[in-house]
Amino acid sequence: MAEPAPPPAGPIPLELPAGVHQLCSCGRSRHGWFCDGAHLGTGRLFRELRLEQASTVMVCGCGHSHRYPLCDGSHAKPAVSRRWWKWWA
Ligand code: FES
Repeated sequence: MAEPAPPPAGPIPLELPAGVHQLCSCGRSRHGWFCDGAHLGTGRLFRELRLEQASTVMVCGCGHSHRYPLCDGSHAKPAVSRRWWKWWA
């Protein structure tokens, strides 16, 4: 029996209609990328997106974005930051 495919580790296109969208930034929503209020008590807020026209936005599939749930390109950076190496070199 074949193993299920692993989730993508890069940006995922999300097509949205024009309007205001509240995207989940805590990862607890039962409505996928959209806020359902599950963040209450976590100290996090939803990310509001205002679109003038229908658009495709890239959401983070790697979990490392600093603008989660939107992709910020962190998926392409090395997994470990080694800036501290320069202090000792
Ligand atoms: S997929 Fe791009 S930062 Fe996560």
